[in-house]
Formats: sequence, C-alpha cells, structure tokens
Amino acid sequence: MSFQIRPATEADIPEVHAINTHYVTNTVVTFLQNPAPLSSTFSKFRDFTDRGLPFLVAVDDAKSAGDTAQQQQTVIGYTYLSPFRGAMLSYGPTVELSLFVHKDHTSRGVGSVLLSALLEKIQGGKVKHLAREHAGDPDHEVRAPDGGVPIRNVIACMALDTVDGKEGGEGLRKWYEKRGFAERGRLKSVGYKKGRW
Ligand SMILES: CC(C)(COP(=O)(O)OP(=O)(O)OC[C@H]1O[C@@H](n2cnc3c(N)ncnc32)[C@H](O)[C@@H]1OP(=O)(O)O)[C@@H](O)C(=O)NCCC(=O)NCCS
Repeated sequence: MSFQIRPATEADIPEVHAINTHYVTNTVVTFLQNPAPLSSTFSKFRDFTDRGLPFLVAVDDAKSAGDTAQQQQTVIGYTYLSPFRGAMLSYGPTVELSLFVHKDHTSRGVGSVLLSALLEKIQGGKVKHLAREHAGDPDHEVRAPDGGVPIRNVIACMALDTVDGKEGGEGLRKWYEKRGFAERGRLKSVGYKKGRW
C-alpha cells in the first residue's frame, strides 16, 4: 500500500470523523462514549487550523478508472494539534496531540509517518500557535501577541487499555517513547468506560 501525507481539507473531515467514530464506539482509547456529531469535527478542524496548528491526513493512492483526483484518495489516518486544556492564553506554548489510524490500516507505518510529519512541521518554532481566550464577554477575544507563540511542548495523553491494548496498554506508551516522547505522569482512575477505569 502506498500513501501520502498532506494537510487536511474540509473535504476530508467526514472520513476523519468516521475513523474517530470507530474508536469512540468500540474502544477505550478515547474517553468519549458517544460519537460526536459531524459538525463538531468540522468545528474542531476550523478552530485548530485558524490557530495555525497543523492538521494532517494520510491518504492512500488506490485508484479506480474514471475517478477524479479527489475520489482517488481515501483517508486512512489523521493527526492534529489542539490547544491544551481548552482555550487559555498561558497554555499557548503547549498543545495536545491526536493521532488515529483507520482500523484496517494499522501497523503499516501510517501512524509513525503521520507523527514524524507533524513533529517536523513544528520543529524549531516554525509553527506559532495563535492562542486566544475570551476576556469578559463573548465578543472580546484576547490573542497572543506577535502572531502567536512558538510551540514548546506536545502532550500525547493516552488511555492505558489494560484489556485490549498491546502489553496491557504499555505497548502504546512504548510506541510513543520510541518516537521521542517521555512519560510525564499518570492520572489514575479519572476515566470510566466500558465497565472499567
Ligand atoms: C497507535 C497508532 C497511532 C499507531 O499507528 P500505526 O500506523 O498502527 O503504527 P505503525 O505502523 O506506525 O508502527 C508499528 C508499530 O507499532 C505497533 N503498534 C501498532 N498499534 C499499536 C498500539 N495500539 N499499541 C501499541 N503498539 C502498536 C506495532 O506493533 C508496530 O510495532 P513494531 O515496530 O515493534 O513492530 C494506531 O495503531 C492507532 O491509531 N491506534 C488506535 C488509536 C490510538 O490508540 N491512537 C493513539 C491515541 S493516544
């Protein structure tokens, strides 16, 4: 299978949403219990990209005769950065990572390539986060000065899936550590899904 990585467009969002819905419904790797509406995935995409944060998709190159260029591409994974802990100016230099590969395309290098493409984009302060927060009333927004703040920290929050996860869930931590992340702590018994903490 060959695939390429490119910035996501609005046209990709329904497929991004479908990939996420699978994990919401069938796993504990996200703590949502019910699929979000498609409109909320569109809103997130617009909010995060308006903030200058990268949102990438992996698309496969399978082709059928007569397809247009857009139809030839299927989204098989995505990754993006989002503000850490909501919209707080002081957290501007810190962002949260989301990374999901389509359930039929895992363990083929897609996640690794998506992650390295995302990290490459922000290396050396290349991407500034146009952090903002509301001040006093909904119409008054305060923005980070100078076109935003360089990103210093990327946080990958993961659930420890002790039942279905590789090595009791520790496999995913190791997956991140192999790719340059370091564990910074564990929150115990903060989420409950599918009958377990
Ligand atoms: C975790 C995930 C992003 C990895 O991407 P991927 O494309 O499947 O992985 P890659 O092909 O790049 O990497 C392959 C390696 O990862 C391992 N791997 C794949 N999925 C894994 C998982 N869920 N947990 C632990 N290790 C995993 C493979 O065994 C392989 O290990 P090896 O190199 O020692 O042989 C992807 O499997 C995924 O989206 N999983 C479900 C959602 C999820 O957990 N996202 C992270 C939320 S924090």
